[in-house]
Amino acid sequence: GGQEPQAWLGTPINDLNRMPQCAPPLNHLKAADDHTITIRTDRLREGELPVPYPSKFRDAWDDVSVKMPCSEKNLFPLDTEDGGVQSRWELIQTALHRGFKSCLDVRDAILRYNTVHAKRWDFTALNLLCTESLDDDEVKMLFETILPAMVDLALSAPRLCTMPIPLLKSQVNHSLTLSQEQIACLLANAFFCTFPRRNSRKSEYGNYPEINFYRAGVSGISFTSSSVSYYFRSQTQLTRLHITCKGTIEDDGYGMLQVDFANRFVGGGVTGHGLVQEEIRFIINPELIVSRLFTEALEYNECLIITGTEQYSKYSGYAESYKWKESCKDEIPRDDWQRKCTEIVAIDALKFRHFLEQFLPEKMTRDLNKAYCGFFRNTTNRKHLSAVATGNWGCGAFGGDTRLKALIQLMAAAEAGRDVAYFTFGDAELMKDVHKMHTFLTERHVTVGRLYTLLNQYASLECKNCRTTRPDVSLYHFIYKNVSSPATADALDSAKDS
Ligand code: AR6
Repeated sequence: GGQEPQAWLGTPINDLNRMPQCAPPLNHLKAADDHTITIRTDRLREGELPVPYPSKFRDAWDDVSVKMPCSEKNLFPLDTEDGGVQSRWELIQTALHRGFKSCLDVRDAILRYNTVHAKRWDFTALNLLCTESLDDDEVKMLFETILPAMVDLALSAPRLCTMPIPLLKSQVNHSLTLSQEQIACLLANAFFCTFPRRNSRKSEYGNYPEINFYRAGVSGISFTSSSVSYYFRSQTQLTRLHITCKGTIEDDGYGMLQVDFANRFVGGGVTGHGLVQEEIRFIINPELIVSRLFTEALEYNECLIITGTEQYSKYSGYAESYKWKESCKDEIPRDDWQRKCTEIVAIDALKFRHFLEQFLPEKMTRDLNKAYCGFFRNTTNRKHLSAVATGNWGCGAFGGDTRLKALIQLMAAAEAGRDVAYFTFGDAELMKDVHKMHTFLTERHVTVGRLYTLLNQYASLECKNCRTTRPDVSLYHFIYKNVSSPATADALDSAKDS
């Protein structure tokens, strides 16, 4: 005895590419038709606050931009009978400037410009925070220092967020670069529930996530929504795999392309309920939350790439046992656009209620395309691509099978030309199984195209007519058997084609 159990298998993690080392120098940051930049690119300096651009607030109240709380068009009915209206921003300023002594004051202020919803909203989280979680000194600090600073931040919107923020709409590739200060301002507005037209699911923003926080009471960041679609007939071989049952995507996958196990409404339940991988990431890197302001629900071939968010908190536990641990200083270096070298990609897996569902060919193809679209980058030189840091994508709340999803992600990463660091989140069996399968496939030079065929054969031979909840033959067993005796597999292939 006394031997340490194996914590990782495959390629050593430090042999995989990480940013910033693997990346070529960035092009000069420059606005384009498909890239909106809300700061002065000519005044971007290390260690200095980016300067908002343009210098004066430009009002836009249309269906391609985020409707801002400080817009002239943001109106509120007057408390009179003649149907008059008043500026909602003025109302917001007055309400927030009064100051707060208790949670009730915060609530009252917010309800002054949100009266329609007053009955529906509860501010229990804020109440609990003040009564149960914080001690007296902390409550004092909250009301005397933190909240007033947040009010200032929220109310500086017309000075900080001067450029209309484009909505990242479905099926349009667009990048948006904001400063961390601007994001802080937008989040402060979300906290005080000032964003107009965002309080009802039935509104014009019905296909966008919630941004106002009514349920719960320093540099550049880019958001890119991109789409690709692809067919898997490929001769590509699998790339390298590091697999471990220790560690997490965010801690050990630094500098890699980190997968957010997303909801199609990015951020999932972060402003409401739910505290699994995506929500936790959005809480510890809160600048992610602002993506909910402008990112339309993701379609089957879309992902959202977020570069430059900073980590502010450490946590322990998970889901019910989740606990905020402490503040932390993010030591990740910044790139030439002054963004933290943290790249996160939101991809939403399909949700399955029954185990067999996920082996339907169209569902496997859907998730393969989804992962591929998240991993693929349009570069000629793959040596510049960081590895993908991922894990049991779609296999918790969404009920997928880890062994199938691991293969799907390996195939997508291979097609995109990236290595994989896979975090099994404590599952040592899974680590061994996936490593063994990866070794087996690599040694036999099994291509992505061949694997794709094998998955479809498994679906038709073992799943289609299966009458129990799970197939008799496991996917990996099926692959081992059929790759070892390719004659059978080829016979199956031609039987299917004819
Ligand atoms: N690093 C590596 N692996 C992790 C980590 C981590 N930090 N956290 C969790 N895991 P889940 P889904 C593993 O359920 O099934 C959210 O509400 C762990 O094994 O978050 O794709 C979204 O908004 C966990 O069981 O992802 C969606 O609505 C597994 O990853 C929905 O959940 C899956 O994590 C997505 O559900």
